[in-house]
Amino acid sequence: MGKEVKGEIKTFLDFGKVQGGRRTSYDYYEGQDAYDLFMGSRYFKDIIFYREGEVDKVYQVEDIRDQTRKFAALVACKNYSDKLVFYEVGSSAMGVIDALEFLNKKYKELKIKDIKFFGIDNSKWMNAAAKYTHEQYNIKLWESVKEADEVKCDLFFAKGVSLMYAFEDEETMCNILKNSKISIFDYTFSLGDKIQDFVGTGLPVTYLSLDKCKKLLEREGTAFIMKPYTIKNYHHNPKDKVTCDCIYGDKEVVEKYLAELEDRIGENLNNYGDPKFIRQ
Ligand SMILES: C[S@@+](CC[C@H](N)C(=O)[O-])C[C@H]1O[C@@H](n2cnc3c(N)ncnc32)[C@H](O)[C@@H]1O
Repeated sequence: MGKEVKGEIKTFLDFGKVQGGRRTSYDYYEGQDAYDLFMGSRYFKDIIFYREGEVDKVYQVEDIRDQTRKFAALVACKNYSDKLVFYEVGSSAMGVIDALEFLNKKYKELKIKDIKFFGIDNSKWMNAAAKYTHEQYNIKLWESVKEADEVKCDLFFAKGVSLMYAFEDEETMCNILKNSKISIFDYTFSLGDKIQDFVGTGLPVTYLSLDKCKKLLEREGTAFIMKPYTIKNYHHNPKDKVTCDCIYGDKEVVEKYLAELEDRIGENLNNYGDPKFIRQ
C-alpha cells in the first residue's frame, strides 16, 4: 500500500479535450461549484432517464432497488396516514419524485402529487434544481439540519454519506429517525465513540457511536434492523466501524414494508442487500 497522503482535501472538476494523447483543460472548478456541476448533471440525467423510462441508464446500479424500497415503504404507511410525508437528508435534486412516478406507472398504488416531500441538502444549487424541476409537487427544503423544522414523517430516507455529512451528534440524528413511522438508510457507525474524519469528496464526516444510537432508538414497539456490508471507500480500518443497511421504525410498519418489498422484487430480511437485486 502507498504512503498515506496528508494535507487539505479539495474536490475538483476539470473539463477539457484530449488529442493525440495531449490533454488540454478548458475549465476547472473546485469545492461546492465542482460538486454541483458534476453531481448536478448526474442527478439531472437520472431525472430525465426516469421520466423517459430508461432506468437502465440511471447512474447508480442500485438506484431502482432503492427507489422500490421507498415505494414499498410508502405503500406500507398508506393505511396509517391521510397524507403521506417523505423526508430525506441529502435530498439532492429530489429525484425520488421521478423514480416514484416511474414505479407508480407500474404499481398504481400511490398518488405522488399528494405526497409531501421534505428535504435537507446543504447545496443551494441542488435545492433550487429540486424546486424548479418539480414545480407541481409539494416540496419543502432546508440547507441544514439546524434550520429545518421538526418533521413528523411516514418515511425517512437517507443514502450514502448523507447522514455522515449532516449529523455531528447522536441525539439529533436519532430524533429525526424517531419522528418517522419507518426509516430506511445506510450508515457507517463507529464501534466506539464517535469519529470525525474526511471522505474522498473532501467533505468532513462524523461516524456516530452505534451503542449510543441503539440506546437512543430503543422504544417499545419499534424494530431496528441492521444488515452489515462492506464498503471500502469510507474507511481504511473497518475494525473500528461497521457499515449497515438499516431499517428502523414501528414494528407493524416495518413488517408491512418487508412484505410489500418481497411482493415487488423478492427482497426480504434473509436476502436484504443481496447483489442480485441490483443492476449487474
Ligand atoms: C450521497 S448523496 C445523496 C443521495 C441521493 N439523494 C440519492 O438518493 O441517491 C449526498 C447528498 O448530501 C448532500 N450533502 C452534503 N453535505 C451535506 C450536509 N452537511 N447536510 C445535508 N446534505 C448534505 C449533497 O449535496 C448530496 O446531494
